[in-house]
Amino acid sequence: MTKNQSIQELVKYAKLAFDNAYAPYSKFRVGAAAYTANGDLVHGCNVENASYGLTVCAERNCIAQAVVAGHTTFSHLVVYTEQENLTPPCGACRQVIAEFFDADAKIIAVNHLGKQKSWHVESILPDAFTPALLNENN
Ligand code: THU
Repeated sequence: MTKNQSIQELVKYAKLAFDNAYAPYSKFRVGAAAYTANGDLVHGCNVENASYGLTVCAERNCIAQAVVAGHTTFSHLVVYTEQENLTPPCGACRQVIAEFFDADAKIIAVNHLGKQKSWHVESILPDAFTPALLNENN
């Protein structure tokens, strides 16, 4: 984390995304924000759908925003909710995180009460299936 970056700044942007979450069905709003490897900040919220299975989580929308802007590597990701229990990334998001984040990058869950817990990517998806494993065939 460089001088101008902070977890606090990520929390601020994750909360802004949270405020725009589209979660009329679950009412479970989530915001996420991440630093790309070159220090840019991206954020995203969960977007639900009347066809429930089409819902996309905040983490994956945040990562997709970065990819649109040309970024595919990250250092930190914050997941913000206003639940008493912190929200760790779901299984699908862990796989997408493993695609783009180094094993030692940090995932940080925070809530409105200031509660916080962090993990290294490798600990939330051990022995991940990663792009490197596809190289044998290319
Ligand atoms: N959700 C996220 O956005 N991120 C997570 O890590 C967990 C779940 C969303 C998906 C759905 O809109 C709502 O939370 C309830 O599952």
